[in-house]
Amino acid sequence: MSRKFFVGGNWKLNGTKKIADELLGNLIKGPLDPNVEVLIGVPYVYLDYVKEKAPCNIYVAAQNCFKTEKGAFTGEISPSMLKDIGIDWVILGHSERRQIFHETDTLIAEKINYALESGLSVVACIGETLEEREAGQTEAVVAKQIKAIKDKICNWENVVVAYEPVWAIGTGKTASPQQAQEVHKILRKWLADEVNETVSKTTRIIYGGSVTASNCKELAKESDIDGFLVGGASLKPEFVDIVNAKK
Ligand code: G3P
Repeated sequence: MSRKFFVGGNWKLNGTKKIADELLGNLIKGPLDPNVEVLIGVPYVYLDYVKEKAPCNIYVAAQNCFKTEKGAFTGEISPSMLKDIGIDWVILGHSERRQIFHETDTLIAEKINYALESGLSVVACIGETLEEREAGQTEAVVAKQIKAIKDKICNWENVVVAYEPVWAIGTGKTASPQQAQEVHKILRKWLADEVNETVSKTTRIIYGGSVTASNCKELAKESDIDGFLVGGASLKPEFVDIVNAKK
């Protein structure tokens, strides 16, 4: 079973309407490898604007959402609100939500499950910190994080797993192809052992953490790296080159 390459750009807390127009212009100009699924994770306030302008081959995603339909949750938004404006994807569990906003494995898993049940597709983020890696805990940490998700969801069809070592995010210290492949292989085996062979073979596991036009091709050669989740470089014209990493 082949897995379609998937490249997401996570704009994080960046952008203006003018910048959104420029970034969309880069993607429209392309040219983009037609065999790659492309997503852009956009700040809430620009989702409607970007969705209206984005070409139909680009998934427009929220960078977060809550785990209920409506209610007294000041500042939050729901999956149904995203669906209401034509947004079908959401990034959940990003390490910045975990580290800065103290989202737990359980809360993230509940949000992922509710988003899936609400008809969204999810980029589910996991990854270890530098301290955890240096303590030899990488496998245990990512296994714990993905198990929390597995314990809540019943269908992996609309899930893309993003392995983002925290120590590589925004640092310029990209995981080597070997380092990334090692963890992706562990995650793929975990899915085979704990879910089933089909989910293991079909679920995209993408890498995030200082991906650039200069390192993406080597990373893309690894058999268990099915794409990327890109932060800083998604705000630059080189994001097109990262989408085309397999070309
Ligand atoms: O979600 C992707 C992001 O965490 C990676 O950021 O800037 O290291 O590409 P960056």
